[in-house]
Amino acid sequence: MSGLLVRGGRVVDQSGAGGPVDVLVRDGHILEVGARLTGPTAGATVLDADGCVVAPGLVDLHTHLREPGNEDAETIETGTRAAALGGYTAVVAMPNTDPPLDEAAVVASVLARGATAPCEVVVAGAITKGRAGVELAPMGELHALGVRLFTDDGGCVESAAVMRHALEYARSLPGAVVAQHAEDPTLATGGHMHEGAWSSRLGIPGRPAAAEAVIVARDLMLAELTGTPLHLLHLSTASALDLVRAAKARGLAVTCEVAPHHFTLTDAACEGFDPVFKVHPPLRTAADVEAVRRALADGTVDAIATDHAPHAPEAKERPFEDAPPGMLGLETALALTLTELVEPGVLTIVEALALLSWRPARIAGLGDHGGPVAVGRPANLCVIDPARRWEVDPTRLASRARNTPYAGRKLTGRVRHTVRAGEAVVVDGSAQR
Ligand code: DOR
Repeated sequence: MSGLLVRGGRVVDQSGAGGPVDVLVRDGHILEVGARLTGPTAGATVLDADGCVVAPGLVDLHTHLREPGNEDAETIETGTRAAALGGYTAVVAMPNTDPPLDEAAVVASVLARGATAPCEVVVAGAITKGRAGVELAPMGELHALGVRLFTDDGGCVESAAVMRHALEYARSLPGAVVAQHAEDPTLATGGHMHEGAWSSRLGIPGRPAAAEAVIVARDLMLAELTGTPLHLLHLSTASALDLVRAAKARGLAVTCEVAPHHFTLTDAACEGFDPVFKVHPPLRTAADVEAVRRALADGTVDAIATDHAPHAPEAKERPFEDAPPGMLGLETALALTLTELVEPGVLTIVEALALLSWRPARIAGLGDHGGPVAVGRPANLCVIDPARRWEVDPTRLASRARNTPYAGRKLTGRVRHTVRAGEAVVVDGSAQR
């Protein structure tokens, strides 16, 4: 028989961490899981997993693939290759493309291009036409194409009334979640980094923490009013996370994500005016980074999402105030989580993978992803060498862009193999296509 035999790894999924086993994959599904499988394994391609963790493939709720319109920064092909190398078997493509993903024809074309990619591409549809914040996009038509997440990400839905209507409309769409980029433009526009001691010292106009919290507070009330699930994208401040924690305690249907740069970097990184550290929402204070870590540990945060935001080199070479915000994330998120959260004991490996795989899979309604690693399940897996030390080299990333803020950073833990729908798309750290 053909197929894949993932040999000797330790399965980590929602039922915990087990001892070394073999996982046999055939016809896109897991056929057998057990210690030292023999029997029907003949002819299967062996993927060595000795000393490795075998986990459900990672799921990114927040990827900018830049297609259509910004192919000089990233394409579906390069972005999904980067995703597979990062351990992802599914990514949610954000709608701030050109044209934006606000109508059925554009969404259908992205889905068609993504259909043959090395990881599954699902689309987040825009909430409003042109992401202009005025008129609702045809959310029902997009939902009929499989869209479950709606957001104007890259920008905030500024009008409370428009946000209310979006939440009310989404209530009639099974599985739909409305996701907000929580930064009040009336407070944040014109700012280029976190507003605080560092922005004053550097003379760079700031974006205050309150810009995030006021939208989070408002949208939590609107979610309560309408009863529609709300997802809060890339939260970065202690005050916003406190609001989410309290809302969850009241039983509200709210979820939130944080990005690795918000638990690994502070606004002090902007000291050298290097636009690689410019991002929206901005890098915050050390106290905020601490609060993000606390919220990850106590379950307030539901997902670690990359906010992978590629930009062409010439765009990121402009002066700080003219450069676009955003940083790469797909190829470093797992290793940053392992190095910065699991190694120091903030999270267990099971908790870390929950945040990177099965909890985001549930938010996006991706039943084929997020495990468990069990007989009959679709074979969407990632095999991680948790001890592997490596150094981030921007020139060696698969992404078309180079704007990682982690150049030269030494990390522990790397993806060894990625299996998507039974196909080995990454083998021994090399993309197979
Ligand atoms: O820094 C950011 N970059 N934040 C966003 O919300 C959008 C993203 C982008 O598209 O570049």
